[in-house]
Amino acid sequence: MLRIDKLMLAAALSCAALAGGARADGTVEVLHWWTSGGEAKAVGELKQAFEAEGGKWIDSPIAGGGGDAAMTALRARVMAGNPPTAVQLKGPGIQEWAEQGALNDVQDVAEVGNWDSVLPPALAKIMKYEGKYVAAPVNIHRVDWIWASPEALKKAGVEAMPTTWEEFNAAADKLQDAGLIALAHGGQPWQDATLFETVVLGIGGADFYRKALVELDDAALRSDTMIASFDQLRKLRSYVDPNFSGRDWNLATGMVMRGEAGFQIMGDWAKGEFLAAGKVPGEDFLCASTPGNGFILNSDSFTFFKVSGEDNLKGQKVLARLIMSPEFQKVFNLAKGSIPARTDVPLDDFDICAKRSHEDLLAAIENDTLVPSMAHEMAVPRSVRGEFLDLVTQFFNSDMSSQDATTRLADAVQRAM
Ligand code: GAL
Repeated sequence: MLRIDKLMLAAALSCAALAGGARADGTVEVLHWWTSGGEAKAVGELKQAFEAEGGKWIDSPIAGGGGDAAMTALRARVMAGNPPTAVQLKGPGIQEWAEQGALNDVQDVAEVGNWDSVLPPALAKIMKYEGKYVAAPVNIHRVDWIWASPEALKKAGVEAMPTTWEEFNAAADKLQDAGLIALAHGGQPWQDATLFETVVLGIGGADFYRKALVELDDAALRSDTMIASFDQLRKLRSYVDPNFSGRDWNLATGMVMRGEAGFQIMGDWAKGEFLAAGKVPGEDFLCASTPGNGFILNSDSFTFFKVSGEDNLKGQKVLARLIMSPEFQKVFNLAKGSIPARTDVPLDDFDICAKRSHEDLLAAIENDTLVPSMAHEMAVPRSVRGEFLDLVTQFFNSDMSSQDATTRLADAVQRAM
């Protein structure tokens, strides 16, 4: 009798310990780089949804557009044996960390939620390692956008958004003649590379883009088309203001918002900034794809690092489930400027730029002109991307000729492969 009492007491105590120690819906420490106005609003939606389920959210933002600083911080945390529970990570980077055995899978959550049937297959593939989901996608961003100030265009007598690079240059000349900044730009390597890849797509087309920036084909990298792309990048360099160096991308968006600059070439996270400031697309600002045919894809996702403890493991699963819920995909993307990663979320409440993005995405899939972003870590390993960024930035900040840039880029890529 006494033994049974003891056993019951022990069982009761361990239940109490569980209830007290492990929260019902877990804890997550989330490492991300979403610190601008629109970005913070969007990640706030995820925090709020997680907390509404009773979970504990520990925020670890690492400022720096494009995420280079965040990735450096992540490496340091993993080296120190103290990875965050969830990390904003994407493209080949997901596979790189998975190969090192650093990630937990969330396959059970994915099966219950039927992720395979609601994600575009190309995206689902990026999220999986050895057939199991190790990441959950939050969105589909498009990189090849031009954002414009209708007020600045009007002042300069530019009547329509440019549809070719010649038209872009002519419009930019007019803006400069009117005393305005033609192109709002922040001189940071990832932003320079963002300009570069939109130009490569526009000048060379999707097949060329793929050969040069994804397959790293040596002949494509050394081709006349690449030289012509650098020529157009040089042209863009002549349209930025003298204070461009080091400027954050959202400050460049602000220049367009205030009508100081005519254009910004940037992914649709820039739209998140306009929206966070209460601006209306089609009225206060304009959107159009950069000249050329295609769609440069950039998708954000969260990965789940190998952490221990029931509380953390529970947190990872709850977060994965929330990220992929249709409700979250809607509210998050309304704030972020992107469109949902799930294909079954109605876009009725989304703006004209998002609808355009969706239509162009479907057309690009149909025409095989959908390409992954090199600048935003969707296309090539980090080491190769680093070579692209270094060279493009050197070109942008010197008088290097297009011919030299082409040769130096091809040599650098070859060394990195
Ligand atoms: C991209 C990221 C976007 C956006 C941008 C600027 O790489 O995919 O979500 O935040 O950087 O920080």
